[in-house]
Amino acid sequence: MRRVELLPRLGIEPPVGRRLRAVLSDAIRTAELRSPGAVRVLDAGCGHKSPLVRFRPRIADLVAVDIHEPADPLPWVDDFAVVDLCGRRAWTPREPFDLILSNFTLEHFPEPDIALAHFRRWLRPDGTLVVTTVNRWHPFVDAYLRLPDGPRRRLQPVLKGSAADAHPLVGACNDPRAIRDALSHAGFVAVRIETVPNLARAWGRHRATFVLGVAGDLLTRAMPSRRSTILAVASPAP
Ligand SMILES: C[S@@+](CC[C@H](N)C(=O)[O-])C[C@H]1O[C@@H](n2cnc3c(N)ncnc32)[C@H](O)[C@@H]1O
Repeated sequence: MRRVELLPRLGIEPPVGRRLRAVLSDAIRTAELRSPGAVRVLDAGCGHKSPLVRFRPRIADLVAVDIHEPADPLPWVDDFAVVDLCGRRAWTPREPFDLILSNFTLEHFPEPDIALAHFRRWLRPDGTLVVTTVNRWHPFVDAYLRLPDGPRRRLQPVLKGSAADAHPLVGACNDPRAIRDALSHAGFVAVRIETVPNLARAWGRHRATFVLGVAGDLLTRAMPSRRSTILAVASPAP
């Protein structure tokens, strides 16, 4: 049995992937009704894999940006640009987007307010922003983010799915209240925030870190606001 198959048996659910798929599917359905056959989506901080790939047939134009060039081509995107999302003079899309996804990126942003303001400008007025990130109200996540840079850099490749997924961490806007406030400040409304247990999955590369993750997920099972992972959905203010 694969380790992750144990998690539902332990009551550690829903997986962030399942919730994210549901939220993305809803947002794309709304966009399809508005612009049939012309849905435009941005993956902001795309890395080398995207939960948007499964929706590709429903997306007319899929643009991806990241602060780094991808190590390998991204066959699922129509267009890629190197963009520092926290840069004051970022980039301007050809046309606004129906949906922007920024998946596990906020914890890396030194200036999250700047990135959220860009997302606000790049969305259509009736578009949707979806953000996922880690939750500092989880004690293990907070401890991890508080580690001095050196030890944390050494630990990161052990915890992450691959060394390529280990990026500098900041954690400047990483709890449900901070994210809600930052989204409102950036001009978003209808902010919906949910939390899911994701430590065992995120840290599941090795047996020891998987067990630590399971302990962390069980610890906060009855405390929703402290679960390890945040999924936020918001719309631009009219
Ligand atoms: C943990 S990875 C997540 C990648 C991808 N979204 C995923 O779901 O697998 C974080 C990504 O954010 C990117 N990133 C970090 N800071 C950034 C910035 N200031 N501007 C643009 N991208 C950034 C990193 O290069 C990395 O690809």
